[in-house]
Amino acid sequence: MNSNSASVTESELDKTKLPAHVAIIMDGNGRWAKKRLANRVKGHEQGMEVVREIVRACREIGISVLTLYAFSTENWQRPKMEIAALMTLLKRFLRSELLEMQENNIRLSTIGQTERLPEDVRKLLSETMALTHQNDGMLLNLALSYGGRAELVKMVREIAVKVKAGDIEPDAVSDELVTRHLYTKDIPDPDLMIRTSGEMRISNFLLWQLAYSELFITDTLWPDFSRAEFVEILKAYQRRERRFGKVYEQ
Ligand code: FPP
Repeated sequence: MNSNSASVTESELDKTKLPAHVAIIMDGNGRWAKKRLANRVKGHEQGMEVVREIVRACREIGISVLTLYAFSTENWQRPKMEIAALMTLLKRFLRSELLEMQENNIRLSTIGQTERLPEDVRKLLSETMALTHQNDGMLLNLALSYGGRAELVKMVREIAVKVKAGDIEPDAVSDELVTRHLYTKDIPDPDLMIRTSGEMRISNFLLWQLAYSELFITDTLWPDFSRAEFVEILKAYQRRERRFGKVYEQ
């Protein structure tokens, strides 16, 4: 698709009905590499290029929050070499995108057990977050060492401590209180969740937050995903009717 036809299809998007928060499970890097008889790391490298493209697309289209599942708690079980390569790629991404984030008013944040990340990665992440802190054009939220169940366990522990101390009554535990103890306490729940590479699973991603999200699963492997396909998914999202458990007339 040439850039002209891409912009024609983007102009068909209804800017008043965009999802405020898009979350993506970027899956299929390994399979993409395997198909090319290449090392899995090649798939992650190409995946990083697609991350760049989709971040830019979100900023230009007007998405407020983009959450990317970049590394799960389960991913710590991968071979040491692959984990090291992913960390190196993350550092490369942060260094190379800082200028772009500043120029395009993008703020960086993370969710997950980031304390488990290597020291140099943590340092670069906190520097980048501090430098982009004032940017309010878009939030790029990276899920790193993230697991939905671990997030829920953390929330339950924090609330239990408060109940035990007598700071809150068990009856005061509400939807809002739970939300305030999640990593995502400052951001709205995803309106749209995309998963690439065809797997029909949530894989421990944003278990609480995805309660009412629209789900889109595409067979495309993440390194082959593109701005054009992203726009098609946004259009399909706009054709869906979101009822949040109510009937249409409400
Ligand atoms: C899943 O593919 C992808 C990952 C575990 C890592 C995602 C990382 C990137 C897209 C690149 C770097 C990201 C940033 C933010 C710089 P897989 O390896 O599970 O694929 P497979 O299921 O085909 O084996």
